[in-house]
Amino acid sequence: MYFTTNPGLEDVATDEFRRRARTAFLPVVHTQPRPLKLAGHVLVQVAAPWRDVEPLVWQMRSIYHVLRPVHGFRLDAGRELDQIQACLRHLSVPDMETAASFRVTTRRIGRHDFTSIDVQRIAGAALVERYGRPVDLTNFAVNVRVDVFEHFCMISLQVTRANLGKRPPRPYRPRAALKPPVAYAMLQFAGLLHGGGALLDPFCGSGTILTEAAAVNPELQLFGSDLFTEALDGVRANLAQLELAHKIDIRQADARALTQHFPASCFRAIVTNPPYGVILGQHLDFRRFYYRFLVQAGKVLVQDGMLVLLCWKTGELGRALRDHRGFRQLHVRVVETGGLYPRIFVLQRGSAQAAIDLTPNPEENS
Ligand SMILES: C[S@@+](CC[C@H](N)C(=O)[O-])C[C@H]1O[C@@H](n2cnc3c(N)ncnc32)[C@H](O)[C@@H]1O
Repeated sequence: MYFTTNPGLEDVATDEFRRRARTAFLPVVHTQPRPLKLAGHVLVQVAAPWRDVEPLVWQMRSIYHVLRPVHGFRLDAGRELDQIQACLRHLSVPDMETAASFRVTTRRIGRHDFTSIDVQRIAGAALVERYGRPVDLTNFAVNVRVDVFEHFCMISLQVTRANLGKRPPRPYRPRAALKPPVAYAMLQFAGLLHGGGALLDPFCGSGTILTEAAAVNPELQLFGSDLFTEALDGVRANLAQLELAHKIDIRQADARALTQHFPASCFRAIVTNPPYGVILGQHLDFRRFYYRFLVQAGKVLVQDGMLVLLCWKTGELGRALRDHRGFRQLHVRVVETGGLYPRIFVLQRGSAQAAIDLTPNPEENS
């Protein structure tokens, strides 16, 4: 099967599956992040029936969907729709023989002179022609995925109906809310999947990082803060709905003045997603903003404490880190989320080494 995840987090999904499979004594035959160079995909082969694998898959926190691959082929520029249609007219998809109904779903990445809707339309028509089963977009029995990645078409059956990356519905969901699988990955990078200690998210917004942390590691003490009343009211409503209000301490605080609200050296880790400067904070001087935040983060973290940040203005963060010199950069990676390519910085409190990544995000000034 294939799992889908955020491009840039394929290794996180692979590791999570291997860890869970080991605990459940499932014999994993093979795993491959980015099979056929497909970003955001992980190939997993297990020598066990689906009924044994299924419960483990539903627990996964770093993936969105599970797909059963059927066929993949290269596309020639300008002939893509004809090729997809011709393939589906002849392709054997055994589940379609008896399906009460079906739908086609398409994810398309790359520049093409056709849309995802075009793909769904011609693929649906070809499948009706071949199998004579009715289309039902809502109560479908089979979901055929016809995904187009640049010049490659992958046909698969989508096993998951609900998106596993969505967590229980919450009343407050701002546009800038983080995707839970990205929050899970950041917690893993901070080493927070096990052990106790205190975690702070000082730009907590709707609380995605904190609620994810509560789910993956009940031993953690959880603290969140935000400057704005709308976010504070929202996160409190979310925590009440999730019955986590007693578990997560939320305070109003400017992330540039954390020491006014929290004691020195009290947090094992800070995991957070400051404003990108795209929807929020468009007019901020980010170098200065990050610098002031780093000074405060350094004070409230324990020695060797972890700071994991998802940032868009990466050149400005790099300059602020160089000015501050109080964090070691352990790891940086690009992740695709919501059509943007921010970076996750994994930092540790302690004297900086010379090498700080100063590469600006190519689009950060746009
Ligand atoms: C990108 S959003 C965080 C989204 C959050 N991770 C979620 O999933 O909802 C950034 C948050 O930082 C808050 N914020 C902006 N400036 C701040 C500051 N100086 N101190 C603390 N919070 C601030 C905003 O109110 C917003 O909620």
